[in-house]
Amino acid sequence: MVLEIENITARQILDSRGNPTVEAEIELSDGTTAKASVPSGASTGTYEAVELRDKDKNEFLGKSVHKAIDNINNIIAGNLIGENPANQREIDNTLIEMDGSFNKSILGANSILAISLACARAAAKAYEIPLYRYLGGINSCVLPTPMMNIINGGAHADNKLDFQEFMISPVGAPTFADALRAGSEIFHTLKNILNKNGYSTTVGDEGGFAPDISNPEEAIELIILAIEASGYNLNSIKICLDIAASELYEEGECQDGICSLSKYDLKGLGKKFSSEEMIDYLEKLIKTYPIISIEDGLAEDDELGWKNLNEKLGNTCQLVGDDLFVTNVEKLRNGIQKKLANSILIKPNQIGTLSETLDTILMAQKNGFSTIISHRSGETEDTFIADLAVGVNAGLIKTGSLSRTDRICKYNRLLKIEEELGENAKYMGTKAFNAAS
Ligand code: PGA
Ligand code: ZN
Repeated sequence: MVLEIENITARQILDSRGNPTVEAEIELSDGTTAKASVPSGASTGTYEAVELRDKDKNEFLGKSVHKAIDNINNIIAGNLIGENPANQREIDNTLIEMDGSFNKSILGANSILAISLACARAAAKAYEIPLYRYLGGINSCVLPTPMMNIINGGAHADNKLDFQEFMISPVGAPTFADALRAGSEIFHTLKNILNKNGYSTTVGDEGGFAPDISNPEEAIELIILAIEASGYNLNSIKICLDIAASELYEEGECQDGICSLSKYDLKGLGKKFSSEEMIDYLEKLIKTYPIISIEDGLAEDDELGWKNLNEKLGNTCQLVGDDLFVTNVEKLRNGIQKKLANSILIKPNQIGTLSETLDTILMAQKNGFSTIISHRSGETEDTFIADLAVGVNAGLIKTGSLSRTDRICKYNRLLKIEEELGENAKYMGTKAFNAAS
């Protein structure tokens, strides 16, 4: 069956924070329609592809995306109508060429990604193949081990926690459904524990609690209490952190040619750390607590620090580059050559097309890096990343806490995929992590 794109439309919708974002809809010659929408970050890396916003202070505080929508309706649509939506790479290359910039700043990565994802979904639907299988083929069978963000800090909450994400990962669960159950039980037990300790149980942007704690160790200890009080142990449930250290990084100042060192300013903790001190602090945390993974432990430009961190801790802990790699194949190549990390976070909107996202995943997998498919802090009801995680057998997913539909819809999609794969579904647990001791 030869398919053709017959119509493309785009509209402005709202994301989980109530900010505008792009939704694209594609109609094929056989009548199939499919939609895709794009998420948005708060602690975005400097080297991410550009999210086009109108910057008109009179509308949505500058955040409307009419230009991106117009680019789809007036420029992209005309160039893609008549194309076969299954020619994903050709479509993505056309989009990249039409944009012409190195960071998708002309058409906007938000408009480009919405089209790129909608094409894949439309083709899968027309061929009547589940999206994960369309993306990965007959070997797609690994349900990702979830890393669930149950305490939010940093740019995602109003509390004093310097670290952005405190996650639990049910590495000992036999199936994805069991992992989700463990996450939910621990989340609700944590709520009771926070209540008893006089902390607020309101949630942050990713649906995790945002108690007014300032010391990361206290947050970790409360989580450990919740794990144990729920009847689980620290072998079956591990802790993962996203420090989001680019947000903490302060460039050194120079006066009369004399420069101070760059520092990590942990305001909540009341400490300023050099790169080496930050590594020592992370090492202390790993030695004290059952931490299996640390994301962005250092800032995106602190390459020497990352190299030292990986040399020191890379054999015992998964070290994940988010801002460091921004899902960019060249950034990842650099990181592999220089041995900066052992794992990569994959966010399709950091790079802007599905094909480039798949290239980065492939390079990571070929080079022994673990891959974590990830949401953004501003999400939509689109569940594409759940199918992507199974499609490429990524092994790991980060899609927030056990509350709020923008997070839960991805988990619910994974439950359905697991059910559909039946006995052929694999849940890897600890084995999905890199350098897990
Ligand atoms: P962001 O945060 O979506 O706000 O960038 C997610 C992350 O840092 O992993
Ligand atoms: Zn991150």
